[in-house]
Amino acid sequence: MILSTLGALGLALVGLTAAQKEPEPNSPNEAELNTAQPASSTSEFYPVRPPAVPLAVRSPYLSTWLPAGRDGGNGGHLPGQWPIFWTGQPLGWAGLIRVDNYETYAWMGAPQGIQTARQVAMEYTSTKSVFTIDVNGKVGMNITFLSPVFPHDVQRQSLPFSYVNIEVWSADGHQHPVQIYTDISAEWASGDRSAVAQWKTGFSSVGIAYHKVWKQTPQVFSEANDQAEWGSWYYATEAVEKLTFQSGADTEVREAFVNGGVLSNAEDPLFRAINKNYPVFGYALDLAVSAVAPSSAPTVNSTYFSIGLLQWEAVRYQGNADRRNTGIGETPDALNSLWTDYYVDEDEALSFFHNDFETATKLSKDLDDKIAKDSLAAGGQDYMALTTLAVRQAFGATELVGVNHEPLGPLLFMKEISSNGNMQTVDVIYPASPIFLYLNPELLRMMLDPLYENQENGLYPNKYAMHDLGTHFPNATGHSDGTDEPMPLEECGNMIIMTLAYAQKSGNTDYLKKHIVILEQWAAYLISDALYPAHQLSTDDFAGPLLNQTNLALKGIIALQAMHVISELIDWFPMQNYSQIAHDYISKWVEIGTNKNDNPPHTILNYGNETTHGLLYNLYNDRLLSTHLVPDSLYKQQSAFYPTVANVYGVPLDTRHDYTKGDWEIFTAAVSEESTKRMFISKLAKWTNETPTSRPFTDLYETGGDGGYGDGIIFCARPVMGGMFALLALP
Ligand SMILES: *[C@@H]1O[C@H](CO)[C@@H](O)[C@H](O)[C@H]1NC(C)=O
Ligand SMILES: *[C@@H]1O[C@H](CO)[C@@H](O)[C@H](O)[C@H]1NC(C)=O
Ligand SMILES: *[C@@H]1O[C@H](CO)[C@@H](O)[C@H](O)[C@H]1NC(C)=O
Ligand SMILES: *[C@@H]1O[C@H](CO)[C@@H](O)[C@H](O)[C@H]1NC(C)=O
Ligand SMILES: *[C@@H]1O[C@H](CO)[C@@H](O)[C@H](O)[C@H]1NC(C)=O
Ligand SMILES: *[C@@H]1O[C@H](CO)[C@@H](O)[C@H](O)[C@H]1NC(C)=O
Repeated sequence: MILSTLGALGLALVGLTAAQKEPEPNSPNEAELNTAQPASSTSEFYPVRPPAVPLAVRSPYLSTWLPAGRDGGNGGHLPGQWPIFWTGQPLGWAGLIRVDNYETYAWMGAPQGIQTARQVAMEYTSTKSVFTIDVNGKVGMNITFLSPVFPHDVQRQSLPFSYVNIEVWSADGHQHPVQIYTDISAEWASGDRSAVAQWKTGFSSVGIAYHKVWKQTPQVFSEANDQAEWGSWYYATEAVEKLTFQSGADTEVREAFVNGGVLSNAEDPLFRAINKNYPVFGYALDLAVSAVAPSSAPTVNSTYFSIGLLQWEAVRYQGNADRRNTGIGETPDALNSLWTDYYVDEDEALSFFHNDFETATKLSKDLDDKIAKDSLAAGGQDYMALTTLAVRQAFGATELVGVNHEPLGPLLFMKEISSNGNMQTVDVIYPASPIFLYLNPELLRMMLDPLYENQENGLYPNKYAMHDLGTHFPNATGHSDGTDEPMPLEECGNMIIMTLAYAQKSGNTDYLKKHIVILEQWAAYLISDALYPAHQLSTDDFAGPLLNQTNLALKGIIALQAMHVISELIDWFPMQNYSQIAHDYISKWVEIGTNKNDNPPHTILNYGNETTHGLLYNLYNDRLLSTHLVPDSLYKQQSAFYPTVANVYGVPLDTRHDYTKGDWEIFTAAVSEESTKRMFISKLAKWTNETPTSRPFTDLYETGGDGGYGDGIIFCARPVMGGMFALLALP
């Protein structure tokens, strides 16, 4: 059908090939196949070409990206391929533009039978990805995906929505009639493509048109292929006079637009499986461009859309033993999304977000500017390319929930995206923590609070700190049997270090007083295990357990000195002299942890294994907390050593493999001397620009070869990339 109608329009056939024909009934939809079309030319990318471009990234379930690395997709062009959920599953999200009432081009997605517009450039900031597109030399477009981040405003941050702003102008100076089209498919509503979706098109009380899509039989707190199986998706825009809408089979709705530039304002009454004649939810509207005099600035016409997910219940949480016995509901508690504290219903929440565009744009620009300026000053252009790419990824793994009881306020939950889905993993919060310490340390406290509440209420039996608050997000149900993944030394160190870092940045020493009893319990573990670590996992669990790990020992020893600082800050007289122990341990550690005979000398991976080495990233804590425990000579020694073992894309994590961790490289860079710091940063930026990986910013990659995933393990979209801010979190 598409071919024949386009055929009747003559000129529109340009760019079509015989292969682009209408699919057979019930054949897999193009969205499922994600058949990327080759880009007609190569776009510019600034500041680098990221592995994947963030499109709408606000929460673990609103995480939509555009593949850019060459191992998937078309190299980062918005026209000609489908956006993906972070897992790689395509998400139907299409954009078309119709010019001069006869020619139609796709500016987003790969709808079959429709030629693609030409992407000229893509530029990203901390909160925005801007695509500049040329439509047959006639019309210019800027498509801006804005996923705002509000570090100091939990109300705004609580709404998991993003904007897409569409700007058009005359590229050839002439005026052109222009119509814009966009749709989403029901693929957003469930990770199970055979699940039945339901939908409704409506208008909010303040004149906002919305398509609402949800899984017909929602399962609260459940996921399928990491997508949420509950809640309502909204795709919304201002209900301007000439806006038309339609829901129906993808080919039919898009074809209606291609033919006439308008939609029927009809709703598809047949609720059905997501993958059965793929229902889509479209809008069309006029956006004419006016003529411009040569060499004068173009007159821009624009419109914007909001996309997001509203879930009333967000997280199951087991934090308070008492409440288990009150009879008020079963434990664990279902905690509501924080936005439910501020808005009476979904209409109000959606309307607030949509009408907040101007404020959100301004606040986002302020944040973009701050991060760019600080990053340039701390580490130059390459560093700015890394920090700005990490912002949406780090915040996009978190979810704010409301807690209606004292003494806790809102809590921030984090998903260990892609590695295993754990809830509130301590050694994932830790590498991510620099971005929160830099932007607002209270956000880190909101992540630590539930970990403390659960353990202080006796819901965790081990004497060391727990690894995570639940095996799978969004279930923060703890580990009352104590069988979480054991990383005792790592997590005791992390909890003490993050707690002191928070108190130092915020000035909230009451927080230290409040938790001193359990902090001392963890410190006792460190006294017995930190100097000679037992055979155990470190956070780099993919490398397996090892005895006497040098870097792990250092974390524990610095954490003991941190306990001394904590005791002094709150006038607490501990049973142990932490400072004495830490100083004793560090002098022994320097001896047994270093190979002094090598040229140049360096610390070793584990005691007694003289030919080994690794990134000593836990040294960062000594500077972060100003503990001044480790001699300056050791900083200098490590800084001189790393360049001697660097590969093209970075320094291997340790002698066991050629892969490395981007987050730990930047922790290491932050405490290296200038030239070594620049080396780490420039190699990681080069890798980011060149890696063939096409999922969101992996933290585990090969330092040699073509810079693929480390050992083929696909870590992606993990919040640990908040560690890019390690330079900026230092005092
Ligand atoms: C389009 O976006 C680019 C990149 O942000 C910007 O430099 C350019 O000025 C924009 N063009 C218009 C007409 O707004
Ligand atoms: C969370 O727990 C509930 C109840 O046990 C379960 O049905 C659900 O599948 C869990 N969610 C995930 C994502 O594991
Ligand atoms: C924007 O598009 C509308 C609808 O076609 C049109 O009425 C208006 O004149 C256009 N504005 C500009 C600045 O071209
Ligand atoms: C750990 O290292 C220390 C110091 O080198 C050594 O004495 C001890 O034997 C090592 N532990 C084991 C179990 O090998
Ligand atoms: C702790 O040890 C240090 C170093 O030996 C010493 O100076 C300090 O007085 C001791 N503090 C206490 C409270 O014993
Ligand atoms: C020494 O390090 C290597 C990795 O480089 C590791 O495979 C080996 O087990 C270590 N040996 C000992 C005795 O710990």
